[in-house]
Amino acid sequence: MAPQVVNEFLGYLKDPDSAIAVAVIKTLTGVIQRCNASTMMEIENALQEAAAQLKAAADTPVDKSITLSSISVTAVCQLFLRYVTRCFLEFADFDQCKAQLIDRGKMFVATSLTSRKRIADLGHNFVRDGMQVLTHGASRVVTGLLLQAAKTKHFSVVVTEGRPNNAGYKTAEVLSKAGIPTTVIVDAAMGYYMEKVDMVIVGAEGVVENGGIVNKIGTFSCAMIAHAMKKPFYVAAESFKFARLYPLNQSDFPHNCTDENVPSETHPNMTVGSPTCDYTPPHYISLLFTDLGVLTPSAVSDELIKLYQ
Ligand SMILES: *[C@@H]1O[C@H](CO)[C@@H](O)[C@H](O)[C@H]1NC(C)=O
Ligand SMILES: *[C@@H]1O[C@H](CO)[C@@H](O)[C@H](O)[C@H]1NC(C)=O
Ligand SMILES: *[C@@H]1O[C@H](CO)[C@@H](O)[C@H](O)[C@H]1NC(C)=O
Repeated sequence: MAPQVVNEFLGYLKDPDSAIAVAVIKTLTGVIQRCNASTMMEIENALQEAAAQLKAAADTPVDKSITLSSISVTAVCQLFLRYVTRCFLEFADFDQCKAQLIDRGKMFVATSLTSRKRIADLGHNFVRDGMQVLTHGASRVVTGLLLQAAKTKHFSVVVTEGRPNNAGYKTAEVLSKAGIPTTVIVDAAMGYYMEKVDMVIVGAEGVVENGGIVNKIGTFSCAMIAHAMKKPFYVAAESFKFARLYPLNQSDFPHNCTDENVPSETHPNMTVGSPTCDYTPPHYISLLFTDLGVLTPSAVSDELIKLYQ
């Protein structure tokens, strides 16, 4: 039996337009509203417990139809908890603080929807007439940006299928419906296609402190190939994905990136490795399009400090 907050969270995620962040904030705001606590400390504890349950749910997904990133979940929880602590220090009055937090939650939900639009506004001009754009994985932010670019420009897109969940097909469908010439390729053809493309753009599950990203498996390879072929590699991500993490290598982050989706007909002595995400270091990234502006990877840490001040 999943805890109530997890069921609530999964319920919010059923809305196909709802970002993970929005579902997280709605869930945490619900925790505050229901909480009979009489001290801020109790509210903080209740939120911390809820945050741990949401992370656990994202690390071992109950519902296979929903792709959850425990990195995004944790980043949003941490940002909200940081705000709770700040509120705790600013308002002596308990009820006033509680009301403020609920308001803040609602405001966050509203701004998160405009973040995607702002990123599209900032980034769509990087796509120019006649370009061929490669994207890897399924990112609503990237799709939004490409759709906005398509209103004034003609360009084509190459989308990797994005194993193991093949999320690229969904992206390709949305782009094709909008009339953008789109080609789906097997992930292994990234290198083959790279010489033909003009730029690469991907989303991120988490943007880490050094300006690197954690994203769908294969993003790291894609970035290295782009770098080797001197093609710009852009990332589009909302600032609520900025995570207080500093990975040193591919396995150095406290999130579950393993996939149990293993073919059944394998030899008993054989193991199949199928991680779902990887870490791309900052020096492979040209620019990040965020709701805080267009950032170089090295500017990310300053923005992160401001967010968590
Ligand atoms: C990755 O970094 C962590 C933390 O520094 C370290 O414990 C681990 O051995 C490293 N793994 C590899 C494969 O280098
Ligand atoms: C990681 O995810 C896999 C596949 O969903 C699951 O089998 C495993 O128990 C998870 N590990 C942790 C530590 O949550
Ligand atoms: C698995 O490997 C062992 C040697 O480590 C071997 O003796 C055994 O026959 C192998 N199992 C199968 C089913 O091939």
